[in-house]
Amino acid sequence: MKHIIAIDGPAAAGKSTVARQLAADLGYTYIDTGAMYRAVALACMQQHIPFTDESGCGEIAIHSDIQLEAVDGGCIVLLNGADVTAEIRTPLVAQGASKVSVIPKVREALVAKQRQLAEHCNVVMEGRDIGTVVFPEADCKIFLSASLEKRAQRRYADMLAKGNAISLDEIRAEMAERDERDSSRTHSPLKQAADAHYLDSTDLTMEAVLAFIEKQMIGE
Ligand code: DC
Repeated sequence: MKHIIAIDGPAAAGKSTVARQLAADLGYTYIDTGAMYRAVALACMQQHIPFTDESGCGEIAIHSDIQLEAVDGGCIVLLNGADVTAEIRTPLVAQGASKVSVIPKVREALVAKQRQLAEHCNVVMEGRDIGTVVFPEADCKIFLSASLEKRAQRRYADMLAKGNAISLDEIRAEMAERDERDSSRTHSPLKQAADAHYLDSTDLTMEAVLAFIEKQMIGE
């Protein structure tokens, strides 16, 4: 039986950092499902398919080749063979990902890929609907959140470090808009699974979050 750890929560709650570290510690495969929605959004942009074109976006999700390749301390995202790791991290692509992720056909295509990815290996998978829809039977479910202000500050620090010129106000507004759309959509909205362990990471270090998750895993 494969082991699945599901980590869900809103943007910049600290999911990626802890999921990546946890996967490295356990020798599991790390899967960033947000990167897959971002890759679909980028493919739509490249092919001039508006995010309102449900059928067009769905076709893109079905036919795009999206690969997540583990590298030391991270994950490379390949879209139809091209490395788009940096390109998918812009606020524009983040908004696009939130918009295409509302479309049922896009979700169906990506959920199928996510389930396939976990067929042959133990995984730590992060996203919005992993514990509720993708793997409702996951061995351990974590719902990680943090205040909007703290999440915006974290993303702002990341962006500054990468040399992106964007203000804290713009990031906070972009994130609030995305949270609202991701939580209120009809299909697979962002929500805590009934059996998920909730943690607010606002005032916690990554080490403390990891320790919490490891404690829950022992208890499962
Ligand atoms: O985790 P992220 O910020 O990279 O995700 C980008 C968007 O993708 C997010 O705003 C909503 C969507 N998403 C989703 O709907 N379901 C997932 N499992 C992961 C991401």
